[in-house]
Amino acid sequence: MTDTFTEAPATYPASVEFAAQANGTEALYREAAADRLGFWAKQANRLSWQTPFTEVLDWSEAPFAKWFADGALNVAYNCVDRHVEAGLGERVAIHWEGEPVDDRRSITYAELFTDVCRAANALTALGLRAGDRVAIYMPMIPEAVVAMLACARLGVLHSVVFAGYAASALKARIDDAEAKVVITTDGQYRRGQAVPLKAAVDEAVSTDTTVEHVLVVRRTGIETPWREGRDVWWHDVVDSASPDHTPQAFNSEHPLFLLYTSGTTGKPKGIVHTSGGYLTQASYTHHYVFDIKPETDVYWCTADIGWITGHSYVVYGPLSNGATQVLYEGTPAWPDQHRHFEIIERYGVTIYYTAPTLVRTFMKWGRDIADSHDLSTLRLLGTVGEPINPEAWRWYREVFGANETPIVDTWWQTETGAAMISPLPGVTECKPGSATRPLPGISARVVDDHGNLIEPSPEYGEHASGYLVLDQPWPSMLRGIWGDPKRFRETYWSRFADRGWYFAGDGARYDLDGNIWVLGRIDDVMNVSGHRISTAEVESALVGHAHVAEAAVVGASDEHTGQAIIAFVILQADRADGGAEMIEELRAEVAREISPIARPKEVHVVPELPKTRSGKIMRRLLRDVAEGRELGDTSTLLDPTVFEAIRAAR
Ligand code: PRX
Repeated sequence: MTDTFTEAPATYPASVEFAAQANGTEALYREAAADRLGFWAKQANRLSWQTPFTEVLDWSEAPFAKWFADGALNVAYNCVDRHVEAGLGERVAIHWEGEPVDDRRSITYAELFTDVCRAANALTALGLRAGDRVAIYMPMIPEAVVAMLACARLGVLHSVVFAGYAASALKARIDDAEAKVVITTDGQYRRGQAVPLKAAVDEAVSTDTTVEHVLVVRRTGIETPWREGRDVWWHDVVDSASPDHTPQAFNSEHPLFLLYTSGTTGKPKGIVHTSGGYLTQASYTHHYVFDIKPETDVYWCTADIGWITGHSYVVYGPLSNGATQVLYEGTPAWPDQHRHFEIIERYGVTIYYTAPTLVRTFMKWGRDIADSHDLSTLRLLGTVGEPINPEAWRWYREVFGANETPIVDTWWQTETGAAMISPLPGVTECKPGSATRPLPGISARVVDDHGNLIEPSPEYGEHASGYLVLDQPWPSMLRGIWGDPKRFRETYWSRFADRGWYFAGDGARYDLDGNIWVLGRIDDVMNVSGHRISTAEVESALVGHAHVAEAAVVGASDEHTGQAIIAFVILQADRADGGAEMIEELRAEVAREISPIARPKEVHVVPELPKTRSGKIMRRLLRDVAEGRELGDTSTLLDPTVFEAIRAAR
């Protein structure tokens, strides 16, 4: 079959062999459609509950859902203990590769169990109790996974903060969550160099803080300032702690973690996830979408634990299923461009899940690199985080997948907790560029402003796009924004309030086969290499600079990173010309204030910004400028001539 839009071979059915062994079946869709709640109850019962649930969903206080509300379980028990009890203690849970070559170790489920118990005892000794919050600010080392599971075991909420974030971003997250403990490392490796990490924690907790202890893993051995009484070495308190710990069961709706993500304002949102529903869907999707066979597969999700993908598909999904996985500390280009391929070869990776931006990077490096390795163990590929262009999709399948493997393009969000729209490999025909259809048990629609379904039709046209909404609650849905129920309602539930639908913030369209194509964010959130960054966050970092009077930031299409950050700034009167040095200084300021991932690609000094009569910056028009397009409708501009000056400044 060919795609009417691209005229390329459009669909890729799985091989007969793959389909024959797949975990997923067409019947799963039928089963879920016939009895959605019964279907979810069955998925929840893939887990071990200490107190079985009798009620599946309580939606009476929508949009605050309760799933499996009268059940109780321990999430860490489900991810670790039960596999050991089932006699699988000798199975490798984690093949860990450090950034320095030759720095590696494999950790069995039995070892993971002991480590998690010791860490849970040590955290208890530091005064942590169920309901407390802990910030985890660590590179990709096994202790980071152990720390998350130890928190889960105690009913303590972790808030993992990406170790590439700057001290001020860390502080904002610690303060909002009122964290009592921060777990970090002395330093981390960055392209062969040991660089400090705890220093950022010291800065973040130096004034006015709720943090009582900083627990520090020695990773690099670099010199580290120390505050007696507050700072504690991991090897002092965890290694000596008792390996015996009895997990307590928590109510299904007990919060499991907070994860901060960017919204349309400068203040990040603490997305709240709870225990039973989250683990049910993380585990279910990991089993079916990744077709995991824990006895034989070696699974590798390349995401950092600082993002939701690292939570659901490095920690909770794979471990709840007793999988063997790879965890890698470094970047794909260290010490050279062969690193990921060597890792695939070394461990015989069978399932590989990454971001489209990395696929495009591999493409740029050229297929010779991939071709010089044995990738024949790979049987399933996946992508997440942004739309994948069909060209990259086909390259990925051909070069990584020997033109044979299915690719699961999984659409989901920090807020959804787990995959929502994705092919079921072996069942759904894959289609380059489309996440295809909602998974069994999930319901999504593409609608217009009034909530009418936008299907390809004479009325809407073939390419008509609309808003992506989720019209039924799902088990791993966010339960709120930490400390801000009003923002929760307004952000996700106000646009289609009369229907009770969740608005995802993405634009989407259907194709003639009924597949969904997610087109990207339609709000002021940018997506740079799969990282979510709000325009307001970058603007506030820019105006924080003494020489900046005003700033407007937009995401412009970028061949390599999906979107690139383009900033327009007005400097203070005495700095109005702003040379190249100033521009570099402003780019560096954003990297310092937020993270290098938020560093604008371009900064343009302009004399004015396009505003409406009510003073709102018209980003839509700035995006037109940044992408080199004809300007859209300028009739609401206060001063339509402003663009001549902006164009002249570029
Ligand atoms: O715009 C969508 C895009 O990433 C956003 C969610 O970002 P975040 O919460 O950081 O989670 C990323 C990892 C789950 C979405 O609103 N997105 C994610 N996956 C896809 C995608 N866009 C298109 N296709 C995808 N497969």
